[in-house]
Amino acid sequence: MKLKTIVFIITVSTLFPACSRAENRFINPLFTFTESELDATLISLPEDIQETIKSDRKGFLDKVFPIINIYENFLVLADKNHALSENFIPGDLIDLDSYNIILNKKGMQLRKPAFNALSEMLNEAEKNSLEFMISSAYRSYAYQERIYSYYVSLYGREKTDKFSARPGTSQHQLGTALDFGSISEEFADTDEGKWLFKNSYKFGFSLSYPEGYEKITGYNYEPWHYRYITPEGCMLQKKYFNDIQQYMLEYLEANITLLKEKTVKEN
Ligand code: DAL
Ligand code: ZN
Repeated sequence: MKLKTIVFIITVSTLFPACSRAENRFINPLFTFTESELDATLISLPEDIQETIKSDRKGFLDKVFPIINIYENFLVLADKNHALSENFIPGDLIDLDSYNIILNKKGMQLRKPAFNALSEMLNEAEKNSLEFMISSAYRSYAYQERIYSYYVSLYGREKTDKFSARPGTSQHQLGTALDFGSISEEFADTDEGKWLFKNSYKFGFSLSYPEGYEKITGYNYEPWHYRYITPEGCMLQKKYFNDIQQYMLEYLEANITLLKEKTVKEN
């Protein structure tokens, strides 16, 4: 190395010692993440989302922290590229028939935590003189197989793949997804549809297939289909992922192992 270069490096690091050190510091006491390590986890996200997170790295990790423990239970991906096992059946399903809820058919089930959140949400909606009909809830692998095959027989595979999940890839198999009302685009313009869109996050429900994101989710706009991802999940999605569930769940799926490894354990 030339003498001039050495003198330059020594001068810079003497004048600006804090700059180089700051980059190597952990950005949040809950994690052992340096700035560049966290930034490396963001590369698959759209640029505007990366910028939002980079402008508030500490706040982002504060909101990620409580998510880590509930990830397996509520935030795993079930989409075109991430299938559930044929044998996956949630352990805490409850029968909706036993409760005072408007249902469009008998025999529907939902996971208990999602049901509790739904009950709270329906109570709040009632105060606003709104009533919701539940049109679909848990679907077993076999049931999804039947409805997917039925639609394929009517419309062919290509068209069906835009609105019906292949068996194993439906969020309904998780027992935390719900269809409300008429299962049609018109639902978005009803008072119920508008209220749900605005308020469901407070109760932990997130719109899975939003308008304009058909290429990202792989499905047509479904204003009636919500998934329970917990209030914490909804807040993280709203604040840092442009309120797009698919972006957040893909991010967590790709990084959950690292996020766990870099969590500071209590003694
Ligand atoms: N309609 C959604 C994509 C499903 O079949 O699960
Ligand atoms: Zn649905």
